[in-house]
Amino acid sequence: MRGIDMNNSEIREKAAALTAQLTLEEKIGMIHGAHLFATKGVERLKIPPLVMSDGPMGVRQEFEPDHWKPLGQSDDYVTYLPCNSALAATWNRKLARTMGGVLGAEARGRGKDVILAPGINIKRSPLCGRNFEYFSEDPYLTGQMAAPFVEGIQQWDVAACVKHFAVNNQETQRLWVDVEIEEEVLREIYLPAFYDCLIKGGSLTVMGAYNKIYGEHCCQSGYLLRDILREEWEYDGVVISDWGGVHDTKLAAESELDIEMSVTDNFDAYFMADPLKKAVEQGNIPKERVDEKVTRILMLMMRLHMIGDDRQTRKRGVYNTPEHRQAALETARESVILLKNEGNILPLQKTAERILLIGENAKRIHSNGGGSAEIKALYEISPLMGVKMLLGGSVQVDFVRGYDSGYENAGKNGEDEANWQEKSLEDGGGREQAEAKTWKQTALQDNLHREAVELAGGYDTVIYVGGLNHDYDSEGLDRADMKLPYGQDALILELLKVKPDMVVVLTGGSPVEMGEWIHRAKSVLWSYYAGMEGGYALAEVLFGSVNPSGKLPETFYKKVTDCSAHCLGEFAGVEKVSYKEGIFVGYRYNETFGVIPQFCFGHGLSYTKFAYEDARYEAGADGGAVVGRIRNEGTCAGAEIVQVYRMSETGEAVKGHWRMAENIAKLRPARELIGFEKVFLKPGEGKELRIPVKEAKGRCKLGVGSSVKDIRIVIETTLAGMN
Ligand code: BGC
Repeated sequence: MRGIDMNNSEIREKAAALTAQLTLEEKIGMIHGAHLFATKGVERLKIPPLVMSDGPMGVRQEFEPDHWKPLGQSDDYVTYLPCNSALAATWNRKLARTMGGVLGAEARGRGKDVILAPGINIKRSPLCGRNFEYFSEDPYLTGQMAAPFVEGIQQWDVAACVKHFAVNNQETQRLWVDVEIEEEVLREIYLPAFYDCLIKGGSLTVMGAYNKIYGEHCCQSGYLLRDILREEWEYDGVVISDWGGVHDTKLAAESELDIEMSVTDNFDAYFMADPLKKAVEQGNIPKERVDEKVTRILMLMMRLHMIGDDRQTRKRGVYNTPEHRQAALETARESVILLKNEGNILPLQKTAERILLIGENAKRIHSNGGGSAEIKALYEISPLMGVKMLLGGSVQVDFVRGYDSGYENAGKNGEDEANWQEKSLEDGGGREQAEAKTWKQTALQDNLHREAVELAGGYDTVIYVGGLNHDYDSEGLDRADMKLPYGQDALILELLKVKPDMVVVLTGGSPVEMGEWIHRAKSVLWSYYAGMEGGYALAEVLFGSVNPSGKLPETFYKKVTDCSAHCLGEFAGVEKVSYKEGIFVGYRYNETFGVIPQFCFGHGLSYTKFAYEDARYEAGADGGAVVGRIRNEGTCAGAEIVQVYRMSETGEAVKGHWRMAENIAKLRPARELIGFEKVFLKPGEGKELRIPVKEAKGRCKLGVGSSVKDIRIVIETTLAGMN
């Protein structure tokens, strides 16, 4: 066994011996939900239930055991972490481990055994509603950030549950859509991050996806779960279904799924509950199938020190500590991305006397939305509060909404909203979408818009804070387009006419079109949902207390049809969805086919400048490394993320030749990320860097640079690796 632990056979023997003492009924209780977030334990043998909780940005609030009604307790407020996209934007593996550690400690502190995180699906389209829960469009970056996150969680004797295995790249019809994909594409783009998390990172559990692949539901797929996961990868952790992802007793029982969870309260009627018990009793399904699942669950419990005297040694965890909040702040700081800064408008002077913030995202709280990733944050500092906290009382900081997102009226039907999950298996697994997506150009919008434009000219400094919110970035629904909602494009354009140096800050989980106003905007900052300290971190970046160092973990397209899933493949499919774009996902497509994005993968500016002085490749057993020197040429400290891309001759050669699209199966992408390192430099400081690169073999060019487009040094070399 690779990955999880060394004493696999010893643990397995112990677990099997315990399994042998259980009745069929007891075993069945352990392999399906008996509570919305827990299985049944076996009291007589002191086997506890397995207790789970969402999710990736913090531990979710407590629900009634059999109803999606929050218990309304006052002790389930938690540390709200930056979302996984924000974490990916830091390109900082250490922070990923620290964030995982915070989540693991909090999960254990709240008494959980499994935390249903991280989400690591590849961002195939900017419209996928759950993109904010995912890391990147690039498999290497995803794996490099998510695996340490998993390790961080599991230091706390709590299991990570990497999700959703696999190709869960859209929310539309997520329960039924069947993904058509070439096997090589699956293996090159969509599976590697799972391998990194499960095998290299040792994730003790994995969640099957709702959708189908090759006609089989992922949670009962022989191909995914048996052939790949168990046989090829030799994974012996626990496979948990997504909530309601199982559809057939025999298929599920005979697949490598271990636990069936769902959203309904008829627990005994779950496919792997009474129906399975009956099938085993009647001899239709061999009892060994059940035994194997139970043995794996017991192995998990043993690894988490949940059984016997070992329980005394189990870590206890802790939540809401000052250290956790500090870690959330540090991540938020490194996640902010400076997209544009003409004429060095940023950083702003702290001495400004009157500042106007425009836009609802200056004030809006995001932690309580998005679907199963929502949490009850202990607090959440909005950008408006962050600016006021940073500048103090001598500066006049005013706010106007600029647009209406319905936020002022939100929460009035909180009960319905909290219960969306109960109905989440209806209509193919989507949420009621129509309402959320349709905003109207009402008289109210006009008035707010007019008010903002009238005021803007009278202020020294104007900061626009808009973008998306969880009415758009949300589980169960995909966005209809990449446009900014609530008439923001027209608003930003007019504001820039009266206040040309207005700073534009956008918050969201996925790229938006900026074409209507970007040519006029001098400075633009992007912030993913950045956790409880996000507003303060943003203020620090705006006013120069922190030098921005985040870089885009995904391509910001000019328009949605510049994304390969939309122009070569299909998005979103209803019954089927064909991934015809093949391996040309994200920048792999744009770079190869000469489609210029608004802001490219890996892009992000700094308040200082970095000089790439030298780079060469050094062969080594593990894939070798790029060794080089970089220097901070400016007057303030900063961090650069040095990226290494493999540049393929064929890919480079077809740049811009659209007709080659017909032959994409034969092409390699012009550029592929194979290494990166974040380096912190004082003013004037130079450092030697060693960037290990992904195992690869053969003659090639390596591009070393500051983004996928901004390649500073090209090395011609022969890679020494294994494949
Ligand atoms: C989501 C999962 C989540 C589960 C439990 C499902 O709707 O797809 O990611 O962990 O619910 O809340």
